[in-house]
Amino acid sequence: MPAVLNYEPFIVAPRAEPAVLTPMQEEILALKQERNAVILAHNYQIESIQQVADFVGDSLGLSYQAQAAQADVILFCGVHFMAETAKIVNPQRTVLLPDMAAGCSLSDSCPADRLAAYKAQHPDIYVVAYINCSAGVKALSDVICTSGNAKKIVSRVPADREILFVPDQNLGQWVSQQTGREMKLWPGSCYAHVQFTTAAIEKIRLEFPDAPVVAHPECVQAVRDIADEVCSTELMVKFAKESPAERIIVVTESGMLHRLHQDVPHKTFIAGPTNTCACNDCRFMKMNTIEKVRDALKNMSPAIEMDETVRAAALTPLQRMLDWSKA
Ligand code: 13P
Ligand code: SF4
Repeated sequence: MPAVLNYEPFIVAPRAEPAVLTPMQEEILALKQERNAVILAHNYQIESIQQVADFVGDSLGLSYQAQAAQADVILFCGVHFMAETAKIVNPQRTVLLPDMAAGCSLSDSCPADRLAAYKAQHPDIYVVAYINCSAGVKALSDVICTSGNAKKIVSRVPADREILFVPDQNLGQWVSQQTGREMKLWPGSCYAHVQFTTAAIEKIRLEFPDAPVVAHPECVQAVRDIADEVCSTELMVKFAKESPAERIIVVTESGMLHRLHQDVPHKTFIAGPTNTCACNDCRFMKMNTIEKVRDALKNMSPAIEMDETVRAAALTPLQRMLDWSKA
């Protein structure tokens, strides 16, 4: 087992004062009005971006917000598959992504041509795709899910159908264990979440024995097994509000701590460490900077473009998810 290094824990303590916006953030808010834009930000974005967003949430909440958006422009502060999802559900809007290179290792692990080849060999398979995939993969899927609704979605798949779950084997394994539904799992993973180890989590637990551990289902099974709660980023906010604990260890990307700090300001949040670092950043999520957010609104670029045939095909399983999720 690799050695767990010594480092200072990354802690976000109770908030004293509301944040004062910087001139750059003020400029973004003025541009937002000028462009008639709405800013949607994922829970993993840096704090200064979360502070200028109209809505901060998980993939599921952001999908609903994107579909309901009436503004001319959706500035999506997240990664590429999230901005693509916004375009799929609301194609009339201009969808901007601050950095087009902000991808996702899970999405990359399942190219559409490989899924198409698998389906050609297994024509009766029912494909459940985690939303962390490209529009091309969505277009080949039967239903989409997020970590927030995966159990509900998988439970609704007709019992006589064999399921292939793409692209996250860890989320897929967790959902299968939770629902009792056997599934074939695509061998993809989140490069960031698999860096959490039981050794690192047990070590931080010794330092904060009163703090429950909440982990994202993209973590490996050994880490999920020692967590007190396994859930999506949005459900982590619910857990933090409802738990009697004053301090909570949060085993996911570090941006989550800012969201928790905002919504549950009286509690203390400790980042789940890895073997080498006190916290864990997704390098793709962190490609978006406050300057790139300003520039995207200023230049109305980079914007998501999509083939209409792919978009229309991807909408069917996405809309199925949005409908099943509400029911
Ligand atoms: P959530 O949908 O839980 O926010 O997760 C998205 C993600 O990319 C996790 O790595
Ligand atoms: Fe993808 Fe992992 Fe980054 Fe989420 S944290 S966007 S799953 S690489």
